[in-house]
Amino acid sequence: MRVLGLSFDYHDAAAALVVDGIPVAAAPEERFSRLKHDRRLPLRSIAFCLERAGLKAGDLDAVVFYEKPFRKLSRILAGAVSTFPSSGALFRRAMGAWIDERLWVGPRIESALGVAPEKVFYCEHHLSHAASAFLCSPFDDAATLTVDGVGEWATASIGRGRRAGPDHAFDLTLESEMRYPHSLGLLYSAFTAYLGFEVNEGEYKVMGLAPYGVPRHADAVRRMIEPFADGSFRLDLDWFAFHKDPARSFSRKFEQAFGPARAHESGDPADDKRLCDVAASIQLVCEELMLGLAKEARRRTGSRNLCLAGGVALNAVSNERLLREAGFDSIWIQPAGGDAGGALGAALYAANALGAAPARYEMKSVALGAEHAAADAAAALKAAGLPFVELKGEDELCDRVSALLSEGKVVGWHQGRSEWGPRSLGHRSILADPRAAGMKDTVNAKIKFREMYRPFAPSICAGDAADWFELPAAAPDPYRFMLATAKTRADRRDRLAAVTHVDGSSRVQTIDPAQSPLFHKLAKALGGRTGVPATLNTSFNLKGEPIVDSPADAVSTFLASGMDALAVGPFLTTGRPENPAPRRQTWESSKTLNDGLGW
Ligand SMILES: [Fe+2]
Repeated sequence: MRVLGLSFDYHDAAAALVVDGIPVAAAPEERFSRLKHDRRLPLRSIAFCLERAGLKAGDLDAVVFYEKPFRKLSRILAGAVSTFPSSGALFRRAMGAWIDERLWVGPRIESALGVAPEKVFYCEHHLSHAASAFLCSPFDDAATLTVDGVGEWATASIGRGRRAGPDHAFDLTLESEMRYPHSLGLLYSAFTAYLGFEVNEGEYKVMGLAPYGVPRHADAVRRMIEPFADGSFRLDLDWFAFHKDPARSFSRKFEQAFGPARAHESGDPADDKRLCDVAASIQLVCEELMLGLAKEARRRTGSRNLCLAGGVALNAVSNERLLREAGFDSIWIQPAGGDAGGALGAALYAANALGAAPARYEMKSVALGAEHAAADAAAALKAAGLPFVELKGEDELCDRVSALLSEGKVVGWHQGRSEWGPRSLGHRSILADPRAAGMKDTVNAKIKFREMYRPFAPSICAGDAADWFELPAAAPDPYRFMLATAKTRADRRDRLAAVTHVDGSSRVQTIDPAQSPLFHKLAKALGGRTGVPATLNTSFNLKGEPIVDSPADAVSTFLASGMDALAVGPFLTTGRPENPAPRRQTWESSKTLNDGLGW
């Protein structure tokens, strides 16, 4: 049973291939097209998935789209009618895109892949999210909670997943949903836009800014919301504009309450106490609402386990509170919590629903992306004119790279298959020594060219993590995938200064030696030199660009940044391109012009 899952047409298009119930390849289109949040039909990702499995499109048994287009259209039409005429601009813009392409998802898939219409299926948006968590989790029984901006109609869902018997017969049912326009994702996005960041991109920046402020406006945020005892809530639409104006998320009333919005990406918001306080306030209310939803999922299902997905499931600060306060024994979160993850969820759901004997799968590693041969890495380095050495085995690689890191160098690290999800977890990473606070500024200013207030994350050997961080009990997986924050132990903060945020928190990744042996070996080697078995780990990209995928991407990013070294496969370079030969001037002194009239 070969099932291809697809998400596209909104943002973060992706493809995921599931063979006999096991994901064999998954990647967002942006990794190959180099277009951030690429939303187009993911032809490059599809080609990668098929090639990885040695398949052709004709070999597929099913292709599953991650949502139901007609149901989504019905929401847009109903929303436009209910807010007419103020929604005129939104309606005109939306209809153009729908008539041109979005209504024709099925025929577009059929013609791009050459598959028959009866092989194309559609999985409801929040069911795709729920499946991406439950069918990757270790649980036989779990509550599911999905929270995002909006799918077709749903903005959040509570469901229940069960597996039983030797054939892993499964049942995954969404039991209740909150509906548009009442949306935690859209509430958070309105504040993202207000703070001058791009919606669906800047939410991490709001989370990073929040610890610089005090949530003194939390009551003002709460006034936008009518909460209910069952964890659900309604938004008071007077504060918002997303439902009637495509260019605005929030209303005039919003600005009257919180002050003028920050112009897009202007100035440093960390310098503005008011903006920091607003960020702290929406972050706090987001955490409260997530806790309310999770507690309701616990109450309704009685399950001790929670599976979490949807864009809001990427809020690592909120996730730590769920781990501590929601009342579950274990929580499993899909690393690709956003809509790219819907491609995998849709494929897993269909594979389990259509397959005769679904396989049991647990996602222990995110290494589902592309892998490149050493010859490709060597070719990319040579093409750039970079001098490099080939290291003999993993021990020498880790020895050399850990030596560079301990000397304060910043190293690009391109190893193995690229990661599924927005976090770099030691396959496509920029690494540095986590000890000195100054390293954060070095990486921020010279390498990432990103905002100084955004924290960097540590990756630490799993066996050592509890010595350095206050980790909640029985929750290893969210930390394996860098999906939750934890406090750095107070007596260790001075030795993890570059990766401890202003409030003492850290978005820690624990490195499992069984799943990431090379990265674990590197962190151990670094610990042997520094006494701290951890590395600063940030995604291998420049500001505003997708994470690198190929060795050629890694080399070009290395050259465009101030990185000190690049380890790509078995090769290490510390050099810039050798100086090109001096260009010869065009004027040449010539004796032939002056040698008279002879032959
Ligand atoms: Fe979603």
